[in-house]
Amino acid sequence: MRFLVLGAAAGGGLPQWNCGCLNCNMARDPSAALSPQTQSSLAATLDGENWTIMNASPDIRQQLIDNRPLSPKSLRDTPIESVIITNGDIDHIAGLLVLRESQSFKLFTSPSVANILGDNPIFRALNPAFVAISAANLDHPFQPLAGMSATLFAVPGKVPLFMETGDLQIGIENDLTIGVEIVVGDARAYYIPGCAQITNALAERLDGASLVFFDGTVFSDDEMIVTGTGHKTGRRMGHIPISGAEGSLEVLSRLNIPRKIYVHINNTNPIWRHSPERDFVLEHGFEIARDGMEVTLALDP
Ligand code: MLT
Ligand code: MN
Ligand code: ZN
Repeated sequence: MRFLVLGAAAGGGLPQWNCGCLNCNMARDPSAALSPQTQSSLAATLDGENWTIMNASPDIRQQLIDNRPLSPKSLRDTPIESVIITNGDIDHIAGLLVLRESQSFKLFTSPSVANILGDNPIFRALNPAFVAISAANLDHPFQPLAGMSATLFAVPGKVPLFMETGDLQIGIENDLTIGVEIVVGDARAYYIPGCAQITNALAERLDGASLVFFDGTVFSDDEMIVTGTGHKTGRRMGHIPISGAEGSLEVLSRLNIPRKIYVHINNTNPIWRHSPERDFVLEHGFEIARDGMEVTLALDP
């Protein structure tokens, strides 16, 4: 089983169009050691021919150009069998509009995220004659690719940013923020790009996995405040910080997971560049995703 990181950055990407923070300016500077990174998406394949894509970012057009296995093989064609959406945020759904053009693929998401897509007429650009939206109930396995089992499950989160109202509940567990569990033979992998908290139940689920791609949005909870880029904490945005007591690094380090890879990394996060924070993450055995990163999981014959 092979994974390909199409986009390692969080919403906005690196650089973000209107951001002049240290990382964003480095990413604009060809002589700096930090290349631009696109928005949150992960591809997976069993045979190198047929792919499922987790989240459709606004950068998907460029991502499909940059990753040759995802090119068409004939006149009108795509190796993308299916797309799985983990929440309704813009960085994870706007790429669906790029995937119009009367091309068939399967679209899997939770019932509530399917309702968000169904309620917004712009997504009718994905003609139902070509793209069937399958609302997969949580904890009911389905097949995004032949031979691959995927299960959606609730993780602590919130409604999409553009749907927030006065009575916002952060950390609520419902089908608006989901993780994906992928099982092939003995291998069990997870993709969780947005998560407000690692509950005991979530930790138990992840324990013993072969591989976890996990929410690395911010290193410190107050990162946007300290960098002067915003007024919200990571937790307020529905993203558990990497550092600190009960941060993701501490909790995931207690579990038996051989490969832990941070994805959905915000442009303010110091782990992008050479920094003590980056060293800290790497020294604890975590990996930091980059666009184009490949991860192979050996499968028992
Ligand atoms: C998030 O992950 O918090 C969202 O991508 C925010 C956004 O839509 O900009
Ligand atoms: Mn996001
Ligand atoms: Zn920035």
